[in-house]
Amino acid sequence: MPLLFTNAAQVVTCAGPARARRGIEMRDAGILTGAAVAVDGGRIVDVGPAGELERRHARFERVDCGGGVLTPGLVDSHTHAVFGRPRADEQELRAAGLDYMEIARRGGGIHASVRDLRSRTEEDLLTLAVARLRRLASHGTTTVEVKSGYGLTLEDELKSLRVIAGAASIVQIRLVPTFLGAHEIPLEARATPDGRTNYISLLVHEMIPTVARQGLARFADVFCEPGAYTVDESRQILDAARRAGLGVKLHADELRPSGGAELAVELGATSADHLGAITDAGIEALAASDTVATLLPGTLLFLGKERQAPARALVDRGAAVALATDFNPGTSPTPNFPLILTLGVSQLRLSATEALLAATVNGAAALGLAGETGQLAPGFRADLALFEMEDVRELPYWYGDRRCRATWVDGAPAWSA
Ligand code: NIG
Ligand code: FE
Repeated sequence: MPLLFTNAAQVVTCAGPARARRGIEMRDAGILTGAAVAVDGGRIVDVGPAGELERRHARFERVDCGGGVLTPGLVDSHTHAVFGRPRADEQELRAAGLDYMEIARRGGGIHASVRDLRSRTEEDLLTLAVARLRRLASHGTTTVEVKSGYGLTLEDELKSLRVIAGAASIVQIRLVPTFLGAHEIPLEARATPDGRTNYISLLVHEMIPTVARQGLARFADVFCEPGAYTVDESRQILDAARRAGLGVKLHADELRPSGGAELAVELGATSADHLGAITDAGIEALAASDTVATLLPGTLLFLGKERQAPARALVDRGAAVALATDFNPGTSPTPNFPLILTLGVSQLRLSATEALLAATVNGAAALGLAGETGQLAPGFRADLALFEMEDVRELPYWYGDRRCRATWVDGAPAWSA
């Protein structure tokens, strides 16, 4: 059914080139007043003055935006949404002074989610994932990248990726699956002298080729961090992913600097994510590359860290900066993407416009989808979000609130309040 979105206080198009925005390109989100958006065949076909569109598309069904703000659906390019139980216990441990990586060394953290996920059926995990993805959608998100990474055996990783594929056919959200078999060194591999090498060999020779052959992931990712995977191990794993035809992402310099950003650039990764401890050399490398710097301020906030990623330096030196939730049970259990925009403004010192572009166009670029979604412009997929506010700057302003009233994916109603 062709649709005409009318009566919005603002239509925020984020329109421009179909690639990540950088530097001063992030100062203009394309705010239109008195504008309408026409949608047909799942794509945006026309954006412009409401009067003209009313005439040109007289037979399109009207969607009354009720004086709200219409934006591209938010693109959350980094989540770990397939998991079992919440880890509220660890939040208390951290409050009592235990560090995130220390909890992991004691067998908690990612290991706790691995034990839990291995014990659950695919059906159980699918039910949990669907409910959680609907929560993400309820805040205005229309595209979500979802990583595996709490299985860490071939079977449990395939199980997690099948859950993502299953969820994609149930929830009205564009899902992008990423293989994160290198999320941790599994405890059983840590327990034997050659367990580590054997697990990496399993990743390279068996897990990655199988995942690619079954078409279950578009990207592969590695947690490159002291205590998890080294730079050399990450390179070895992601080289194998490349050879298997997968795109490449990296958890880089999250808590301690280790050259992760530089490695991401060297590998031509689509994105380098976290970057809370990125060095100056890492910033320069990203600024000179096409790799998107994906910042996840919810994570460092939730972990109680004082330092956030140097977003201002990244934007000002010309890196392509995206924002995402990192939705996961250990370090960022929020489905609320607009809250991440709040942190983008108040902690990372981005403008509201920069934060919005980081969560739309640049999020899409971080998934290789810059030509598909993230903009309200003719030819793009009709992924839209409607918010109850008069000015898009209120999106990061009403922090923690849920102002989203409805979303559409491929022109079809996806979520409504
Ligand atoms: O992005 N740091 C690695 N992975 C996740 C956390 C996963 C977890 O603690 O369960 C992250 O922060
Ligand atoms: Fe993550």
